[in-house]
Formats: sequence, C-alpha cells, structure tokens
Amino acid sequence: MKFFIDTANLEQIAKAESMGILDGVTTNPSLMAKEGVKGNEAIMKHYVDICGIVTGDVSAEVLSTDYEGMIEEGKKLAALHKQIVVKVPCTADGIRAIKSFSDMGIRTNCTLVFSLGQALLAAKAGASYVSPFVGRLDDVSSNGIELVSRIVNVYRYYGYQTEVLAASIRSVQHIIQCLEVGADVITSPLSSIMALLDHPLTDKGLAIFEKATKEII
Ligand code: G3P
Repeated sequence: MKFFIDTANLEQIAKAESMGILDGVTTNPSLMAKEGVKGNEAIMKHYVDICGIVTGDVSAEVLSTDYEGMIEEGKKLAALHKQIVVKVPCTADGIRAIKSFSDMGIRTNCTLVFSLGQALLAAKAGASYVSPFVGRLDDVSSNGIELVSRIVNVYRYYGYQTEVLAASIRSVQHIIQCLEVGADVITSPLSSIMALLDHPLTDKGLAIFEKATKEII
C-alpha cells in the first residue's frame, strides 16, 4: 500500500520524505488556505516547491467547477511538473473533464467520492486515482472503510486500472483498516503516519536496552 501525505505544509512533507516511506502528496484548496498560499502565482509556485521535495505523485486540485475552467486549469497544472496529478471533483463536469484529461494523457485524481456509483463513473472516465473520503463518511454515521472495500472489490472484479486512494484518513485505525481491505494508497496527515510507530512495549524495551548499553560501553 502506498503512503501519500495529505498536506500542503512544506516542512511536514520534507519530514515524511526524509523517512524514506513517502510515495506522494495530496493537497486541496482547504489545505492550501491553511498554509496561507494565496493567488494563482503563489499556488503554482507552491506545487513546484512540493514537487522539488518529493519524488512521487502530487495531486493538485482544480478550483473551477465548470468543464471548460477545469480543462484550462488542469492543463496548466499538468504542465508545471511531470509529478502533478490533476485533482477533479466527482461531479458531472468533473467526470467529463477526467475523460478529456485521460484522452490527453493527463493523470487525474477524482476527489470527493462518497459512493460506489461515483467510483464507477470515475473509473469508466479513466481516472488514475479515486478518492473515497473515509473520515467524512464516518462523520455522518456511514462507514468509510466499507466503501473503500467495496470499491477495491468491484475494481478488481472488473479489472479497472484506477487506483483506490483512501482520503480523509484521521487515525492509525483507518490506515490499518485500509491496509486490510486492500486500498492501493492512503493519504493521511503526518500525525497519523507517525502514530503508526507508537507502542508502549517498544518504548519500554528501548529503555531496557539503553540501560544495558550503559553497562557494556
Ligand atoms: O484527503 C482529503 C482530506 O484532506 C479531507 O480530510 O479530515 O477534512 O475530512 P478531512
């Protein structure tokens, strides 16, 4: 399973990259706003900066909601760097744009996916990635992991090449459950990735080894 970091924070991206386990980055308008990135020029520069830090795919979201706007923006984003994947919302215009991008050889990430039907249309349009939002489904008493599992099973059964990228990941539990149901990718905040390391027996064992180390050196 690939690990993407879900942030536009350059320091966190660099920290995850330095661990050697990072496969890519996802961003969205909310995450860019959180970093204070404002204006078209600054947004474009930020994407180029991210591509300079990591070696994997970097999802850059279109801000337009109409087909023509998405196509114009997506072409500019894709031209920025070969690592850029154009992130497009799962709407009628978005699905149409994903099909056009696919025909142009531009890779896409279909975002804001909350149902199997939406995931089906994303795959049929030729999306490179589909992003079901796990945490936000859980927020409304639905089951985000179950949706990830259903998409994985259907894509495998029919042979769709679209990779299942579980998004809106909020915890270690989400990451492990995605692993168990066969998600291709998870995108998560750095805190959840780091929390995978936490175990009291590791801390306790290390303290014992450190004490012993003092006795032998
Ligand atoms: O990957 C999508 C993500 O940024 C949304 O996360 O926690 O706002 O639902 P969240």
